[in-house]
Amino acid sequence: QALLRFYHERVVDHYNNPRNVGSFDKSDPAVGTGLVGAPACGDVMKLQIKVDDQTGKIVDACFKTFGCGSAIASSSVATEWVKGKQTEEVLSIKNTEIAKHLSLPPVKLHCSMLAEDAIKAAVKDYEAKRAKTSPNLEATN
Ligand code: FES
Ligand code: FES
Repeated sequence: QALLRFYHERVVDHYNNPRNVGSFDKSDPAVGTGLVGAPACGDVMKLQIKVDDQTGKIVDACFKTFGCGSAIASSSVATEWVKGKQTEEVLSIKNTEIAKHLSLPPVKLHCSMLAEDAIKAAVKDYEAKRAKTSPNLEATN
């Protein structure tokens, strides 16, 4: 009940029915893994993307979050928003947009920051792996 009083219904919905909970195989070259922690509270979020190598499009996403309801809701929204987008495109997703979507109160802004950081970390991981495995990219040095 307290939850319903303090949080917007979208938070409650994403908390009770989180979308895309799960894990992909980290060693899959198509998978990018972002693992981030919030210094403020110690909560941890893992967000993974699966990318189509040919088009650069994110075809799937999942998360596992050990954290508060707002962090879980933020990661759930993040996985929904990144699906179907280009990897460069999702780098511009701002935590403030997620927070606004969920009507998070100011003290919960850092929870949505985790999601923004996790998206960026996942794309970075994917790109680093890709650079390592792609002979074309390696040939440039
Ligand atoms: Fe789920 Fe908007 S309510 S992303
Ligand atoms: Fe730390 Fe929400 S209270 S992520």
